[in-house]
Amino acid sequence: MKLLIATHNNKKKTELQRILSPLGIEVVTAEDIGCELRDVEETGTTFEENARIKAVAGCEDSGIACIADDSGLCVDYLNGEPGVYSARYSGVHGNDEANIDKLLNNLEGVGRKDRTARFVCAACCAFPDGKVITVRGECEGEILTERHGSGGFGYDPVFMSGGKSFGEITAEEKDAMSHRGKALKLMSEELKKIITE
Ligand code: IMP
Repeated sequence: MKLLIATHNNKKKTELQRILSPLGIEVVTAEDIGCELRDVEETGTTFEENARIKAVAGCEDSGIACIADDSGLCVDYLNGEPGVYSARYSGVHGNDEANIDKLLNNLEGVGRKDRTARFVCAACCAFPDGKVITVRGECEGEILTERHGSGGFGYDPVFMSGGKSFGEITAEEKDAMSHRGKALKLMSEELKKIITE
């Protein structure tokens, strides 16, 4: 079975390949199969909606099953912000440093017990027959008052779970506990059921 991943992010491709190849699934990108994917606007108000928008569009454009994910950070003290706006929290899409600065400013003076947060990842797989599977993974933690470690990406240096920041752990350690690792594990279980049906 061939599965298109609707992303240009090579890290996500490698991660999906690692998790899904034992099931006999070949994960490909649009470039791999010479297909042009249209740019879709992430207009959803939930991670699930945005993942579905991307997966359905990718399936329609390529004609093969397509998997997409949408993720972000939800901080309780900020009523769930930055949420689906995590990548563009500071106003500039993908500016990790500015996003972290804004987050730390908004939590200035807030005590440790009120800095609880979770990373959330929704993954969606859309099939040419119209079937859609959506799963969700979450990872609980807290927002530190300053950056720790230089690994990972996004908000990793200020998100602590299990005693260390996500900027201080290895990719393998992060996979084992992260929102994305959990969502992809659930997705691989769902895909296993479909393959053996
Ligand atoms: P995307 O939807 O997966 O591209 O992620 C949206 C944004 O959420 C990213 O730009 C990051 O700011 C944040 N984010 C999602 N997952 C992670 C993570 O594992 N670590 C740090 N930041 C993340």
